[in-house]
Amino acid sequence: MKLWGGRFSKETNELVNAFNESLSFDQRFYRQDIRGSIAHVTTLAKSGILTDAERDTIIEALKGILADIDSGKLAFDGTQEDIHSFVEANLIERIGDTGKKLHTGRSRNDQVALDMKLYIRDEIKEMDALLKELLTTILHIMEENIMTYMPGFTHLQKAQPLTLAHHFGAYFEMFKRDRGRLSDIYDRMNYCPLGSGALAGTTYPIDRAYTAQLLDFYGPTLNSMDSVSDRDYLIEFLSAMATIMMHLSRFSEEIIIWNTNEYQFVELDDSYSTGSSIMPQKKNPDIAELVRGKTGRVYGALMSMLTTMKGLPLAYNKDMQEDKEMTFDAIDTTKGCISLFNGMIKNMRFNKDNMEKSAKNGFTNATDAADYLVNHGVPFRDSHGIVGQLVLYCIEKNISLDDMTLEEYKAISPVFEEDIYDAISLKTCVEKRTTIGAPGPDAMKKVIEICREYLSK
Ligand code: ARG
Repeated sequence: MKLWGGRFSKETNELVNAFNESLSFDQRFYRQDIRGSIAHVTTLAKSGILTDAERDTIIEALKGILADIDSGKLAFDGTQEDIHSFVEANLIERIGDTGKKLHTGRSRNDQVALDMKLYIRDEIKEMDALLKELLTTILHIMEENIMTYMPGFTHLQKAQPLTLAHHFGAYFEMFKRDRGRLSDIYDRMNYCPLGSGALAGTTYPIDRAYTAQLLDFYGPTLNSMDSVSDRDYLIEFLSAMATIMMHLSRFSEEIIIWNTNEYQFVELDDSYSTGSSIMPQKKNPDIAELVRGKTGRVYGALMSMLTTMKGLPLAYNKDMQEDKEMTFDAIDTTKGCISLFNGMIKNMRFNKDNMEKSAKNGFTNATDAADYLVNHGVPFRDSHGIVGQLVLYCIEKNISLDDMTLEEYKAISPVFEEDIYDAISLKTCVEKRTTIGAPGPDAMKKVIEICREYLSK
């Protein structure tokens, strides 16, 4: 049975049915669809468009449909076009003529706009909870590693020493911003489109503010054409997911590098790595690689959505049905990646000795040697040049700055004294960086306190 058969004298072509249908994927939000319908009939009854008895009959039957879908008793067969038709047809089957009143003052256009918003709202909450779990893991690693030295890089070249806590702290900030983005999107989208009808509202005197309240929206949307054709919130959500994936991908890339034979900064747990079918020695970082790889897929969904929307005249167009599969895939992918990534880093071991050894090599303390000279009255540009000479000397002799004798130092600049060794030790290099946001342990402890406070809310 079709909802719109009256005007047609011929059956729909079978291929058209298959091409047009969305039930195979919009069945995903049957709960939201039924919730919306319950609110809709409640509003209709409030204005006297349905009797209280009709309302109750419909709600009871809708709840029955919900329970039957939940339990698997009612299956999605291919005879209906979409989830909206499926639920309505089932309702009519169960309660006859009263069921035919459900769609009074409503169009599938405002209905699908509502369902998708309800669904996305739930998904935003779930994604936020997953990000919070990931942040909790990151914070835990930060707390344990305030004194774990490692090299910091620019251009993937060793730059200055820092700590593992500081490195993970960078990702804490990124995922914190991601949560902020989700909450901004939620606030902007949380207005109820139901009651907008096909595009021009409805002639029934319904209380849209009441419907909005029933469904936990801040209020009703204010333009019926925009209500049924707005997919901005999906673009924003996809963009937020693309950003989350970008962060996860950068983090994955670092873990892949840290896990190489050359670095050996981390060891992945056996339960989070895979082997090779031919090379018996291999233990590969497949999870991190897959997270990095799946990032492209989520970017693709964002581009797809932007492109689908770009030429659409107001108001609803069937193109918009294409908003679903890509978005669902992006949601599943992003949620899966956050969870897997969280498990991977939770079970990862850090080779602290290797990290510290690496921090000691590669002249990561050269800036501090230059700062030493500045503190003894040498202008920074000159001290930069002097330390450059020291580095060149060390490279020729294959030693580090710490290995040079005081005589060797003095031969390049007489300003150096015995205290240079302490000034360029790994401990000093890190400890002296005390400004907020820097890796020094005092600064780090303050930031960790702020992170703890943030997660406690
Ligand atoms: N399945 C449709 C979608 O996902 C529902 C809206 C149909 N509206 C219409 N006028 N054909 O967009």
